[in-house]
Amino acid sequence: MTSALTQHLLQRRTLFFGGKGGVGKTTVASAFALMSADRGDRTLLVSTDPAHSTSDILERELTGEPQQVVDNLWAMEIDPEHEVDAYIAEVKARIADSVPPRLAGEVERQIDIARISPGAEESALFDRFTRILEHEARDYDRVVFDTAPTGHTLRLLSLPETMTAWITGLISHRKKVNILGRMWRNVAGAGAGAGSHDDMDDPVLRVLNERKHRFEETRKLVTDAKRASFAFVVIPERLPILETGKAVRALDKYRIPVGGVFVNRVLPDHAEGEFLQRRREREAGYLDEIAATFATHPIQHVPLMEADVVGVKALRELGMVLGSGESGVGSEK
Ligand SMILES: Nc1ncnc2c1ncn2[C@@H]1O[C@H](COP(=O)(O)OP(=O)(O)O)[C@@H](O)[C@H]1O
Ligand SMILES: [Mg+2]
Repeated sequence: MTSALTQHLLQRRTLFFGGKGGVGKTTVASAFALMSADRGDRTLLVSTDPAHSTSDILERELTGEPQQVVDNLWAMEIDPEHEVDAYIAEVKARIADSVPPRLAGEVERQIDIARISPGAEESALFDRFTRILEHEARDYDRVVFDTAPTGHTLRLLSLPETMTAWITGLISHRKKVNILGRMWRNVAGAGAGAGSHDDMDDPVLRVLNERKHRFEETRKLVTDAKRASFAFVVIPERLPILETGKAVRALDKYRIPVGGVFVNRVLPDHAEGEFLQRRREREAGYLDEIAATFATHPIQHVPLMEADVVGVKALRELGMVLGSGESGVGSEK
């Protein structure tokens, strides 16, 4: 009974829902998470939307820590701004421990500049994602991420690669500094350095290595097609189709597995009237375009509901459709 796309997703532990703003990511991700929970899988829904729409849709005040919503369903909302502040504070604290006091002021200034640079929010969010995947994932059968609009999410998911390269560079730089230090001590005599200074007990190098290891682990996880999958939500309109097509190609490039595409807000067959008939004709063109754009991925249609989808009852109704719904024209890989 279950559609190919839903079946595929229910066999994965880590799911990401993405798509252009307003297409129904939060709605579909929440309905999916609830369906997963109702089947008996302990499910954690994680939202990174600063607009708190998950709280609205679940009719519950969510926080940065998992909260139980119904049997087997927990939800949390990560605030990107707050994450950046916490991340920066942590980096400052760590650096304060390992940098000579005379340099501390300059280093702090550099970090404050980094705080407002593009990418700071992504690094902080990514750090949080990594921790959720490392620790919280152990307590759940499935973690469902309701991610921010496409551009943002893509940068986030491509970060393990960028970050690994970046950190590898920092590590080799740091090692060179250590080697120079050793050479200097050899030349100047044993008393010149502050005790032994092997790579092994260099705190900066240790932190960098830890981070590198974590990024690599996350990278392994998000690219493991048996464990993770990325589902897109799109609507039958021109711009969302274009943007999502680009996003899918980008994820393919980063070898992040794309599970398929939910086409949301499809006019239901029972909707009648001349106006709707004309809309349906326009829609048919876009549905063909979607089938062609995502031909190698499973596609599933989600009908436009009569009212906004709010509350557990409405989400369950939508979840039933996700579970058994008519699938689109797209074929499986
Ligand atoms: N299938 C649907 N039928 C009716 N309303 C929907 C449907 N999907 C989403 N909506 C409504 O559209 C609005 C935006 O959905 P939302 O999930 O918040 O989008 P996004 O997370 O992509 O920004 C919400 O008011 C939601 O209730
Ligand atoms: Mg949303």
